[in-house]
Amino acid sequence: MLEAWEALAHIGHEQGNLDIRAQFESDPERLARFSRQAAGLTLDFSRHSVTPESWRGLLALAAAAKLPQAIQQMLAGEPINHTEGRKVLHCALRGGANKSLAENELVESARQRMAGLVCSVMTGERTGYSGEAFTDVVNIGIGGSDLGPAMVSEALTPYQQRLNLHFVSNVDPSHLVNTLKGLNPATTLFVVASKTFTTLETLSNARAAQAWLQAAAGADCTLSDHFVAVSSNVAKAEEFGIHQESIYPMWDWVGGRYSLWSAIGLPIALAVGWDNFESLCEGASAMDQHFSSASAGDNLPVILALLEIWSVNVLGAQSHAVLPYDQNLSQLPAFLQQLTMESNGKRVDRDGHSLERASCPVVWGAAGTNGQHSFHQLLHQGTQPVPVDFIVPMQSHNPLADQHTHLVTNCMAQARALLYGKSLEQATQELRDAGYSEDEVVALAPHKVLPGNRPSLTISYDKTTPYTLGALLALYEHKVFVSSVIWQLNAFDQWGVELGKQIGVEIYREIEQRRKGERGASFDPSTEALLAQLLNSTNNEVVEGF
Ligand code: F6P
Repeated sequence: MLEAWEALAHIGHEQGNLDIRAQFESDPERLARFSRQAAGLTLDFSRHSVTPESWRGLLALAAAAKLPQAIQQMLAGEPINHTEGRKVLHCALRGGANKSLAENELVESARQRMAGLVCSVMTGERTGYSGEAFTDVVNIGIGGSDLGPAMVSEALTPYQQRLNLHFVSNVDPSHLVNTLKGLNPATTLFVVASKTFTTLETLSNARAAQAWLQAAAGADCTLSDHFVAVSSNVAKAEEFGIHQESIYPMWDWVGGRYSLWSAIGLPIALAVGWDNFESLCEGASAMDQHFSSASAGDNLPVILALLEIWSVNVLGAQSHAVLPYDQNLSQLPAFLQQLTMESNGKRVDRDGHSLERASCPVVWGAAGTNGQHSFHQLLHQGTQPVPVDFIVPMQSHNPLADQHTHLVTNCMAQARALLYGKSLEQATQELRDAGYSEDEVVALAPHKVLPGNRPSLTISYDKTTPYTLGALLALYEHKVFVSSVIWQLNAFDQWGVELGKQIGVEIYREIEQRRKGERGASFDPSTEALLAQLLNSTNNEVVEGF
């Protein structure tokens, strides 16, 4: 492995600041060499800063990391999440590249129950306390129990059927209060989504939602039909008051950020119908098949990961922008942030030794064209390299005049501007042509230079359908896994998020004590100052219920 890293570093050193534009000129085959298709997606990475030589070096690194074996270990259900002793089987949730897993049966029976629920809610067979059909579904969950379903439900807006979907995640009461404003309690169904059923934010919001319903329905009214839970902790969900038959399973072999294909995806199925949810899973399954069978050089997730390795470990990139040119995919960057950064934001390898190289970059982005009028300035003229993924459908669900053509045109223009930039000569000539004096030309021209040669790739497809979206999401899931294999870290735990939760509990306990006039723990001066400010605030009374 070390040898492959050193060879790659050497190639990077020799290559220096590769002129990608010159590569296109010297290699007429470059586009064909560096583009591939699978599961309805076309990946063009010819505008990335790779050469045939660096590509060979990256493939050698993947081989040295024993990538094919790692992929098969995951699919076979080996406990590759070794710090928690867990299997990693999200692929089994969508048809599975491995037909012989015992878990497939559990998945099948859960899917039948999910389909039954979707049917009974959508047809109005399951009703609320007044006997009226549900009109609104509020998903209460956070992290993986929120971001995936929220992102996909919005992405598939054109497929939305009868029910209106809402998502509440933040413990900030404004999130719940703002969401419930205008909803009719009698026709609102809550999905309480929490793998552990111990998450503070979710339980606080679920309790408040219960109080909101009870206040509207009357103290004696039974509200069980208004609540559905998705959890691997059935006892806790029951303790909360949700009936066993309304609890849908999650398993420890599905990570929260990989769980939208499980019952965590119920809000998606309720929004777009069961057939569309299945189609989403089929798209993901097609990508799973591709991932498990294509050779590394033709394998889309492997290619994305190798480009990430090149960007981070050779070019020194510290961040990565994902820019979907599709308004309905505007929540994709937030979803990818959790998927990527909670998975690979790690500092030790699988054996617990400090990593010798940088790992996960900061992932960020927004839907184009909006970002163009905001942070693209940094992409074009900032001092740090930021590789960009452009994601673009060729057709719109809402053809309106030539707006979609403008959207795609802008995507193409941004990729070209990143690559070709504007030279000092061009800037100078433009200013002269515009009639500026020579002094003004000299002063202004440097500000107008875009160095160009900034790497990007494009993922294009016909239309954002459930199937293509499923394939796109599975592509990124597997990319994250491949990067983790090469960095030799565990992508499926998230110990780093625990400390803040523990400290939060300690501080909260102390606040309760001080409210009673007692004092226990003391903290650093900065925390103490904030505590004093909170306790002195008049807006700090605890209000029970709605
Ligand atoms: O705190 C992080 C985290 O554990 C995520 O990994 C997870 O997706 C989220 O919290 C929600 O957890 P749960 O589904 O158990 O409520």
